[in-house]
Amino acid sequence: MNIVLLGPPGAGKGTVAALLKKELGVPHISTGDIFRENIKGGTELGRKVETILASGALVPDEVTIEMVKDRLAKDDTASGYILDGFPRTIGQAEALDAMDTIDCVLNFVLSSEEIIKRLSGRRLCKSTGRIYHIVSNPPKVEGIDDETGEPLIQRDDDKPEAIKHRLEVYEAQTAPLIDYYRKKGNLIDVDSSPSPETIVKAIMKEIKC
Ligand code: AP5
Repeated sequence: MNIVLLGPPGAGKGTVAALLKKELGVPHISTGDIFRENIKGGTELGRKVETILASGALVPDEVTIEMVKDRLAKDDTASGYILDGFPRTIGQAEALDAMDTIDCVLNFVLSSEEIIKRLSGRRLCKSTGRIYHIVSNPPKVEGIDDETGEPLIQRDDDKPEAIKHRLEVYEAQTAPLIDYYRKKGNLIDVDSSPSPETIVKAIMKEIKC
């Protein structure tokens, strides 16, 4: 099954995807994670996109579409995938339509107030990408990853100015995709306010498409 996770920054897409991939046995492909891995590795792509990510703007469509095309061509996507953070513009959605058939688009719905709380409290383990929250999902020892013992970091784009910009970019460029997919008939709204486990159970009941 090919699934797209759509929704504003901080709605919990990455957290739910980490659980959902175990239920479905398909890879979780996050464009944000791929960009961050490239930045960490100092690749040419990473150097090109570093300041764009830190500001909260979108990477140009042609760069992102090419990267996703390459990723979806890998063998591990043969029985499906969870695509998280792509598409984010109508141009990307049209390009994805030309690449593959999408069975379900899960639209994460959460209030702006809750989004801001989630993003400002998010902490990450840089090497594994494991996601925490200082209130709702804290590590066992403050500021330290439970498994690797590494210090946790805050993403550059989780600083207040970048959060504001990401929410504006979402409304202007990504929210129109809700109508795009609703018209196609494969959009499912997901209330992302309960716990991640409850959200995954609700999704598993819904995805019979
Ligand atoms: P990306 O990494 O995709 O960021 P995003 O969409 O803004 O999403 P986030 O990762 O911020 O949030 P999330 O919904 O995954 O929430 P999470 O699970 O972490 O993209 C980053 C950047 O890359 C973009 O700004 C852009 O520059 C570039 N980019 C990426 N894709 C692109 C594309 N297609 N085109 C162009 N540019 C692109 O949860 C957030 C917090 O909430 C965590 O602390 C978590 O612990 C907590 N939490 C999660 N779920 C719950 C819950 N149910 N209850 C309580 N707390 C929860």
